[in-house]
Amino acid sequence: MRMAVFSAKPYDRRSLEAANAAHGHELVFVESRLGPDTAMLARGFSAVCVFVNDVVDATTLEALAGGGTRLVALRCTGYNNVDLAAAGRLGIAVVRVPAYSPHAVAEFTVGLILTLNRQIHRAYNRVRENNFALDGLLGFDLFGKTVGVIGTGKIGGLVARTLRLGFGCEVLAHDLHPDPDLIGIGVTYVDADAIAERSDIVTLHCPLTPQTRHIVNARSIARARRGFMLVNTSRGALVDASAVIEGLKSGQIGYVAVDVYEQEADLFFEDLSSEIIQDDVFQRLLTFPNVLVTGHQAFFTREALGNIAETTLGNATAFERGEDLVNRIGPPATA
Ligand code: NAI
Repeated sequence: MRMAVFSAKPYDRRSLEAANAAHGHELVFVESRLGPDTAMLARGFSAVCVFVNDVVDATTLEALAGGGTRLVALRCTGYNNVDLAAAGRLGIAVVRVPAYSPHAVAEFTVGLILTLNRQIHRAYNRVRENNFALDGLLGFDLFGKTVGVIGTGKIGGLVARTLRLGFGCEVLAHDLHPDPDLIGIGVTYVDADAIAERSDIVTLHCPLTPQTRHIVNARSIARARRGFMLVNTSRGALVDASAVIEGLKSGQIGYVAVDVYEQEADLFFEDLSSEIIQDDVFQRLLTFPNVLVTGHQAFFTREALGNIAETTLGNATAFERGEDLVNRIGPPATA
């Protein structure tokens, strides 16, 4: 089928073209993000393929439907950027990649914790300037520390397992659906307040929903252990970034590592090194020595890109053939 691939980067093109040899779709790559202003570029395409920061709201979906699009194929896991109710109303099917490599994100998360704790990012810069002093690089043992994992699905489950079995951490978890296998290895499920109160490190792995928006906020930060580490590789809007800045200034938060940011759509995946960044909250975050920010790269492994391409094109093939869409996301249930 004809598919317009939005937000297409060179690596998307390479992985999708390689996987398409087995599918034979007509892929057209568009660098722009999909949104109300660019939806007309999809006119005549029965499918669009989008990523995390494309805007698939009701206005965009109406324009897509008017241009003949019947399938939105997300090449990612999270789908908070899609108005599923509008898609359902307009008869547009929405499919996603439910899991492409939870290992990629889980391993990156552990990497962030180690880098930030042991200040490897700062050590790298120091040594390049022949500064071999250790002052300011003091870290802590992960062994025996308490880590709170919010959301223990595929990614959070792996993070919990790695920290528990690999590093000997005490692991507390919070999820709507506790995982008996994690309980079996000594993970303890508690409520969200207990995560805040008892954890040395809090790491977020739940999806962004109305219930989880700003789950880390001024109140939860105030409840937390003084000097705790916050890690977010899930979705930016799980965290109130302004409250985090206040927490960092007061010392209530000791470390922050984030791969996602609430307003990242205006920043991430682009080279803005010659631009003046207008987002003052983001710029303030970057000024702290105990903050490590990466630009939504946790998913970015060879294996993940290959799986994303294969599943996305497989979803399109299944749609074209009228087969059962196993990776379809339905509209939210109405009360
Ligand atoms: P998953 O669906 O396997 O796990 C999510 C877990 O969160 C589930 O166990 C669910 O019960 C739990 N959950 C849902 N609502 C909750 C709530 N209100 N409180 C506590 N727990 C709740 O998803 P997976 O694959 O582990 O991905 C997690 C998130 O990671 C995705 O939603 C996505 O936003 C993010 N992600 C980030 C990537 C990156 O590159 N930084 C790449 C892939 C995913």
